[in-house]
Amino acid sequence: MTDTQRSTVYIETYGCQMNVSDSELMLGKLTACGYDSVPQPDTADVILINTCAIREHAEQRVMGRLGEMKNRMKRGAVLGVTGCMAQRLGAQILERARHVSLVIGPDGYRELPELIDSARAGLRTTATEFDLEEHYEDFRPRRFEGVKAWIPVQRGCDYRCTYCIVPTTRGPERSRQLADVIREVHAVVESGMSEVVLLGQTVNSYFDGRHGFADLLRAVGAVPGIRRLRFTSPHPNDFSPEVIRAMAETPAVCEHVHLPMQSGSDRTLRRMLRRYSREKYLECVAELRRAIPGLALTTDIIVGFPGETEEDFSETLSAAQEVGFDDAYTFKFSPRDGTPATRFPESDRVADEVASDRLARLIATVRSGSRERNFGALGQRYEVLVEKPARRGGLLQAKTRDFKTVMLPGDQSLIGKYLMVELTGTTGSTFLARQVTERLPLPISA
Ligand code: 5AD
Ligand code: SF4
Repeated sequence: MTDTQRSTVYIETYGCQMNVSDSELMLGKLTACGYDSVPQPDTADVILINTCAIREHAEQRVMGRLGEMKNRMKRGAVLGVTGCMAQRLGAQILERARHVSLVIGPDGYRELPELIDSARAGLRTTATEFDLEEHYEDFRPRRFEGVKAWIPVQRGCDYRCTYCIVPTTRGPERSRQLADVIREVHAVVESGMSEVVLLGQTVNSYFDGRHGFADLLRAVGAVPGIRRLRFTSPHPNDFSPEVIRAMAETPAVCEHVHLPMQSGSDRTLRRMLRRYSREKYLECVAELRRAIPGLALTTDIIVGFPGETEEDFSETLSAAQEVGFDDAYTFKFSPRDGTPATRFPESDRVADEVASDRLARLIATVRSGSRERNFGALGQRYEVLVEKPARRGGLLQAKTRDFKTVMLPGDQSLIGKYLMVELTGTTGSTFLARQVTERLPLPISA
């Protein structure tokens, strides 16, 4: 094929890192099949919107965006909807948006080039079968970021949290073979990266038939050139003593865990079918902190779950205070069709104003704790990995091992490098820093 024949593709991604990783796989597949990636939809021959279904709001955004595409896409272009919303709504999307010709769920990307060809020939297709063997092992992802690599190690989910659409959109849990993951980690190092983030819906329940998550952490951490190893998101119940030991004993494993709590109330946790109590969650936190000094913790919390009383919510507030999260992603409950939480009686519904008020109080509580801790960290020294230009001020954006976001002056040649910095200021959430050279303490002279 000559260059003039190459087609162009534009991919837009919503939702979690698993979706970003899927987009990287799709782009890898399509570039291998003769497509060039373009940064805007207007000129693209193929537009793919990789969607999220986790909350109503995420879907509304996508529907709005699809409407916009109608005016922006060039004549003859193919518009496809992929990901979780495609899986959830299937052919309904084709009915609701006549200019969409492809709807492909998360297990259907293998046929992407052929499906696009048939769409170009005028066919409209829905591909939403689950494929429990599918890990796209022969795809070579085209990564969007150059400093850290997202590596899926597990697809789907076997938990049945009552609010969650993911088991419906991503199907049952299955893990990649450890050897396949390690092969990808080697390729990542060869491409010049030294940080990997292992991805899975409940990543620490990883089991490939022979190896568990502890084996995986040790094996990835042992790949020469891997300096930072992270994973997201774990489930509290899958932090076995072996996994915690492997974290503590693998130097590359960073001192940060994103540990979804969802609620601090036993009653709500039971109704969410989270399978742990407040006490068990706090015990898990304590065990992690005992094993990994300086561990930072972030979390996900839902407010306004059906039946959540003011007393339940105050348990969430107090649990958040007790843990002292470094950050929290907080959400108002959003009912998802077909999930068990939609079957609670109408009288359990929490009014939107009440949920909004709780959300604001929760955010204020988490922020005031993290602000205080962040001001306390000023003057301390950290190793950072420079990730990208910051959005403002001509600065660079970097991360500490414990997931602090740090802005510092410097030129772009520092991207991808490790530096020692001293924290000089904070907005309360992010930091300003200056580079320092580590020197041995001067000998005390007489
Ligand atoms: N409503 C609100 N938040 C939700 N999450 C998952 N499902 C819902 C829902 N129906 C949140 C959880 C999860 C995060 C990714 O999104 O906190 O951990
Ligand atoms: Fe990711 Fe869940 Fe959204 Fe799917 S529904 S994109 S798995 S957050």
